Amino acid sequence: MLTTKITETTPMVDILAMAEGEDDSTFEQRFSEAKDLILDLYDLQMIYSAAIKEILTKLEILNDEFVTTHSRNPIHTMKSRIKTPKSVAEKLIRKNLHLDVKNARENIDDIAGIRIICPYIKDIYMIRQLLQAQDDLEIIRETDYIKSPKPNGYRSLHLIINVPVFFSDHKEKVKVEIQIRTIAMDFWASLEHQLRYKAPNKEDIPEDISAELKSCADIIAQTDIRMQDIHNKVLA
Ligand code: GTP
Ligand code: MG
Repeated sequence: MLTTKITETTPMVDILAMAEGEDDSTFEQRFSEAKDLILDLYDLQMIYSAAIKEILTKLEILNDEFVTTHSRNPIHTMKSRIKTPKSVAEKLIRKNLHLDVKNARENIDDIAGIRIICPYIKDIYMIRQLLQAQDDLEIIRETDYIKSPKPNGYRSLHLIINVPVFFSDHKEKVKVEIQIRTIAMDFWASLEHQLRYKAPNKEDIPEDISAELKSCADIIAQTDIRMQDIHNKVLA
């Protein structure tokens, strides 16, 4: 297994060549296997990109329909991203799994990710219902960090969804991670992520700072509830 520390500048092929191969294989053999794997991982990106497009289109249709019936958008913004081949490989290494496409597809749920940002808390659960009602989509895992926030204060609804992608000669089920949150939850999560990334020791933020962040998350959550109440009163 890999012993050298991977940094931002480590070339992908070196990461794979170091991690792969039988003990008696030469570096050249490993290098050549690694190159094949990189090509496979790039092919994989095409499949995940198709899955993202399908879900984004479904969500755009639902949003447009809601605008015509309710004169407002339940989706404020949507973002999507695909893990790079390098970060897929790193995650497999972290999980101590053999580097191959099958393992990536089976064991990494967030190769394709979509973040849906909604104005109100109720919108989050409505979008979830609408996704569940689509008979070609299957919610295979759900974590509700709104009902049960993480100890640090993080809130969002996380879904892992299976979506069928149709190619010229076959159909494939592809996993996509969907995070649904309010504008307020996204405000907190984005800044918390930035702050954690900047901290000298990323895993271990000083306790007083963690407590401050948690307190901000709780105030933001109360504000979300108040905004939802105001919205309900305006509509009543
Ligand atoms: P991993 O992606 O391997 O961590 O899987 P997991 O199943 O443990 O995922 P989890 O549902 O806890 O988190 C997945 C994603 O949610 C992360 O990649 C972040 O985008 C987001 N997330 C989770 N926890 C936090 C948090 O404390 N702060 C912020 N800013 N984002 C978080
Ligand atoms: Mg992740």
